[in-house]
Amino acid sequence: MKKILPLLLGLVMLLSLAACGSTSAAAPQPVQETPAEAPSQEQPAAESLPVETESPAQAEPAGSSVLVIYFSRTGEQYNVGVIDKGNTAIVAEMIAEAIEADLYEILPADDHYPMTYKELTDVALQEQREGARPAYVDSVPDLSGYDTIFIGAPVWWGDWPMILYTFFENTPLSGKTLIPFSTHAGSGLSGFDRSLAAAYPECTVTKGLAVAGTDAQNNPERLQPFVDSWLTELGF
Ligand SMILES: Cc1cc2nc3c(=O)[nH]c(=O)nc-3n(C[C@H](O)[C@H](O)[C@H](O)COP(=O)(O)O)c2cc1C
Repeated sequence: MKKILPLLLGLVMLLSLAACGSTSAAAPQPVQETPAEAPSQEQPAAESLPVETESPAQAEPAGSSVLVIYFSRTGEQYNVGVIDKGNTAIVAEMIAEAIEADLYEILPADDHYPMTYKELTDVALQEQREGARPAYVDSVPDLSGYDTIFIGAPVWWGDWPMILYTFFENTPLSGKTLIPFSTHAGSGLSGFDRSLAAAYPECTVTKGLAVAGTDAQNNPERLQPFVDSWLTELGF
């Protein structure tokens, strides 16, 4: 047994390392099962994307203006208690401030989302199962003047919240450069880049950023350099 134990430990470590190498969750996961400490220990990761098709310098052509669009929730959120500014809102504001971009928040038209975490996860799961297209407040600005649009949201069950798909289907963005970002509790970018590219085949989708929601909420000053270096890498 003494000889087998180190072998078993080594195998467990190997399996753990293999799991850490994955940049996004393979499947929607009940976040209650996400290890509480895991998200905040992770460094916010700019992920390598298969859909990156343009060099970063082309992300912002001279003279263009940039918009940051986001969806975010307050109330009770995973591992941060009850918050009055959403995790994704914090990151969206950080990006907009750093590059002097405009900011627009997608708001539900009929805000039926519960303010308690467990109930919210149930509603969101139901929406995902039904392929729901929740309506958003119809105050989207004229987007024709923006060449580059950041689009961010919390990961909900391993995907964009369904309200984002309503937005994608209603909002033509042909020819623009789109830059996805997520906040999450361990799932990373969760394929935001791929689903954005699928929704907008006529757009360039560049390198995305995944930020642990706990880092955004609790350690924004620690997060700032990571956001800044991602923006620099993108050519801002
Ligand atoms: C309905 C729901 C589903 C979630 N699903 C996931 C998930 O699949 N993977 C994950 O890492 N985090 C998940 N989370 C955690 C959120 O992505 C995370 O707390 C995020 O930072 C919340 O951002 P917000 O405050 O901007 O809404 C989920 C949270 C909610 C409310």
